[in-house]
Order: sequence, then C-alpha cells, then structure tokens
Amino acid sequence: MQVPALSHVSVMLEEAVDGWFTRADGVYVDGTFGRGGHSRALLQRLSPHGRLIAFDKDPAAIAAATSESATRVSDPRFAIFHASFRDMRERLAEAGVSQVDGILLDLGVSSPQIDDPQRGFSFRFDGPLDMRMDPTRGESAADFLARADQRQIAQVVKDYGEERFALPIAKALVARRESGNPVRTTGELSEVVARAVKTREPGQNPATRTFQALRIFVNAELEELEQTLSDTVDLLAPGGHLAVISFHSLEDRIVKTFIARESKAEYDRRAPFAEPRPTRLVSLGRIRPSQAEVEANPRSRSAILRVAERKPAGEQPA
Ligand SMILES: C[S@@+](CC[C@H](N)C(=O)[O-])C[C@H]1O[C@@H](n2cnc3c(N)ncnc32)[C@H](O)[C@@H]1O
Repeated sequence: MQVPALSHVSVMLEEAVDGWFTRADGVYVDGTFGRGGHSRALLQRLSPHGRLIAFDKDPAAIAAATSESATRVSDPRFAIFHASFRDMRERLAEAGVSQVDGILLDLGVSSPQIDDPQRGFSFRFDGPLDMRMDPTRGESAADFLARADQRQIAQVVKDYGEERFALPIAKALVARRESGNPVRTTGELSEVVARAVKTREPGQNPATRTFQALRIFVNAELEELEQTLSDTVDLLAPGGHLAVISFHSLEDRIVKTFIARESKAEYDRRAPFAEPRPTRLVSLGRIRPSQAEVEANPRSRSAILRVAERKPAGEQPA
C-alpha cells in the first residue's frame, strides 16, 4: 500500500490505541490530532459517556477536524483545541476537566505537513523554507537562518540533527547570507548542505539531519515535550495511561528517561532514612512497528511507542 499524497497513515494504530485506551466511559486526550486516525479509532471504543479532547498546533489539522468536509469529526463526544499540547493542563481546566484516563502523543509531523511544498518541511520539494507546525506564530526556519550567527546555527544543526558537519554547514549558510543571498527555500538549503556535507550515508539525503534539526528547533519540539510530560502524569487518573510515539532518538530519550525516573523510587541523599518520593508511573513497555507496517508505510520505520500507567497517588514503590 502506498501512502497517498496529503493524507496521513496513522502509525501503530492498533497498538497505540490499545496502549491509550483503558475504559469505555473515560475521558481521553489526543495531544497530536494530525488527521485524527488515532482519535477516530479511540472514538469507536468509547461508550456514549466517553469523551475525547484533542489538540493540534497546526490550523490545517483543526480545519480537517472541524470544517464541512469528509475529514470532519462530527461526534458529540469530541472536541478539539488549536493549541500546543504544552497548554493541555490549562485548556482542560477551562473545559472543566481535571483528570483524564488516557493521553496520547504521536510526536513529530504528519504526512500532509511533509508533503505540502508550501510548508517547507521537506527537501523532496522546492518551497518556502518555513517548517512551522503553526504558521500563524513564531519564526520560520528561513527567518532564523537570516538572523542567527554561525555559532547558533552550528549548535542547532549539531544538537538537534546530530550532524557531524554542523560547522561547515553553518559557515556555508552564513557566507551565502553575507554575499547578499540568504537561503529562503528548501531547494536552496538542500544545495548548500549537500556541498558542505563531505561524506554520504547510504540511502539518506545529505540534508536529512539539517532539515530535522531546523524543524525541531523552529517548533521547540524537545522543550515542549519535556515541559508536557510531567503535566500529563498530574492529569492522569490512577490506572490512566500515557502513550507516546516518537520518531527519533532525541525524542525517545526524553520519553524513556522520563518514564524511568517516574517509575523508580527516588531517595533524598540528604535524608537517607526518609521514605523515597512516591513513584507515579509503571512502565508498560515499548513497542516497535511490525515488519508488515514498515513495508506498507516506510514513515513508521523509526517509530517507538512507549506506554506507562499512572499509579494511585502516594503508593510506595515495591
Ligand atoms: C504524527 S502527526 C499525528 C497523526 C495522528 N495521530 C493521526 O493518526 O492522524 C503529529 C501532529 O502533531 C502535531 N503536533 C506536533 N507537536 C505538537 C504540539 N506540541 N502540540 C500540538 N500539536 C503538535 C503536528 O502539527 C501534527 O499534526
């Protein structure tokens, strides 16, 4: 099966919904609605009393869910906010929700975002170098490259792209800007990067790491994830589930470290005989997509799903 242009094939659909869902009457959060594949599958499992509240930063995702079209979710149990999942705690409080039974974060970008040349996410199409998930706010990748100094650009490319040639790439971008010709398009960025990257990784475009780095930076992806994880645990009712799908090692490391920290007893070194800080989560494990899924949808190949369960408040570690 080929992924059709401008549609999104949900990654690990069944596995993620199995991890996210706990009870049919529950209240659920989809922090990354996208085109709603996971949301629709969850709604099928909910009773008439269940609720699902979704978030997405991208106005196009909100339009897909709400405008009069085939993708609209017309279900009285469903509501959606145009907001970052970082704001879920406040937005849920405004909606009168203080506890939920499951939270899903399917991180990163959707296929409609990558496949739309006007969004500037991909080196596969030439278009304006934007990369914002929410184009109504913040700074585009081109604007960042137009103002940042060489050190800042190199840092972003190195830290978020794990790119060995971060410095030569940054030098080349700044030299081009200083010659009065700053990069404004995905094609121009790909060209500059391809010249600066001296070794080739088989099957990978030389601009892959730089595009990933700029996207993560422009959307503050790692900061927002770190800021949100702790809130999700506060929001979960005992027995509630957190399910997170990540697509690269930087994201997965944050999720893995967070779940490990929340599932291990923490002793206060200054008060060694005191009770440890109560653990809040139990890890329910990690799942990778099946071979068949990766063949059908190559975008799933790097996905890792982690699921954890909220423990009752105050329960001490075993
Ligand atoms: C991988 S897609 C989700 C696909 C979705 N699960 C589906 O089945 O259609 C990720 C989506 O999350 C959104 N997103 C990424 N980071 C976000 C954040 N911090 N807050 C809200 N939405 C975010 C993106 O705009 C994108 O639409």
